[in-house]
Amino acid sequence: MIFENNREFAQDLDAKDELRKYRDEFLFPKVNGKQVIYFTGNSLGLQPKRTKSYVDEVMADWANLAVEGHFYADKPWWDYHERFAVPLSEIVGAKPTEVTVMNTLTVNLHLLMVSFYRPTLKKYKIICEEKAFPSDQYMFQSQVDFHSKTVGFNPNEAIVEIKRRDGEHNIRLEDIVAKINEVGDELALVLIGGVNYYTGQVFDMKTITEAGHKQGAYVGWDLAHAAGNIKLQLNEWKVDFAAWCSYKYMNSGPGNASGCFVHEMHHNDTELPRFAGWWGHNKERRFKMEPQFDPVRGADGWQISNLPILSLAPYLASVEMFAEVGMDKLIEKRNRITAYLEFILHEIDKELDGAEFEILTPADQEERGCQLSVYLHGQGRELFDRLMKNGVITDWREPNVIRLAPAPFYCSFEDMYDFGQILKKLILNK
Ligand SMILES: Cc1ncc(COP(=O)(O)O)c(C=O)c1O
Repeated sequence: MIFENNREFAQDLDAKDELRKYRDEFLFPKVNGKQVIYFTGNSLGLQPKRTKSYVDEVMADWANLAVEGHFYADKPWWDYHERFAVPLSEIVGAKPTEVTVMNTLTVNLHLLMVSFYRPTLKKYKIICEEKAFPSDQYMFQSQVDFHSKTVGFNPNEAIVEIKRRDGEHNIRLEDIVAKINEVGDELALVLIGGVNYYTGQVFDMKTITEAGHKQGAYVGWDLAHAAGNIKLQLNEWKVDFAAWCSYKYMNSGPGNASGCFVHEMHHNDTELPRFAGWWGHNKERRFKMEPQFDPVRGADGWQISNLPILSLAPYLASVEMFAEVGMDKLIEKRNRITAYLEFILHEIDKELDGAEFEILTPADQEERGCQLSVYLHGQGRELFDRLMKNGVITDWREPNVIRLAPAPFYCSFEDMYDFGQILKKLILNK
């Protein structure tokens, strides 16, 4: 599509946008009395207006029914999480029994590593990407330290990072596959962010999962930046496990609950070690209070505690919105609005003689979601601060990167045009 950098053109794209009514369903902060241009849906999504009624419902049930709410609320609490199975499975390309909600993201990845990282003296290495999100790096290190003491492998050799080539911003698929083959028999686990948090690069999860399996390793994915952003086919790709947070593209509120995926091929394997609790126990027999743990055959079997219903309520509001719209429509708009933002950035850069910034994210739509990471060659941090003061909410990542994620649920094409004008003005008026 041929784009133009003017307001009428952007407004015309908005008028043709099938999802435009959803913009009014979100609450936008204001700066200087004006609704902001919100680019940080990849960090914390905006609050949907309908969310409050979901939370109010739980508060009212608690007030009116107290403990009886577990069984007699309109949405009973004891199986509240089961309402997520169908909508979440559609978001991540899974069967309803393969997904569940529980805990938070890093906690879930740790718990899944209990099952899927079982190192031996010979097979103990973990492959991850260079510059993985720091929480994942701490997690890998602590898992390795925990196991190496009892198993006896060398902890300094256990974590294998896949590097970018010199002068390149993104990691090449061929380098990932080559590293998996090189580590070979010693590979216990591949665990990578499906979308890199820093560059926005989307990895080819199908090919990487296949390559890991060929070496007899388990393959899991941190989908923090992928869930609700890109097309996922976790069941078909035979991914062993995955987890994601819900507060980014899924708009469920700060620090909210995580989603998990465990492939059906593992559901009947009761030999898989796991940390157990009563909420993972056979549903029919849970309240019989028996001593012997009998896991639910499905991702729910990895649950430990009864669920924080007040947290799940906003998450439920969110997955129901996703079910209304469907990932295909979101992805269609995502592709168009991200391409328009990219075009605006190139236009402004050209007008400013091309030395101001550089997009790190792959240009190929198949290799990115809705985030564009922009390296600022010019004013850097100062420009970021001025953008924020002027109502452009983005975020800063060292050494000189701002991340711009035009979430398709609520960002408009006119926002992209306005952003370009603000950016140009701020660069010119240093
Ligand atoms: C890629 C990635 N992994 C892990 C985390 C950590 O999430 P949590 O604090 O919910 O465990 C984040 C948080 O932003 C993230 O972006």
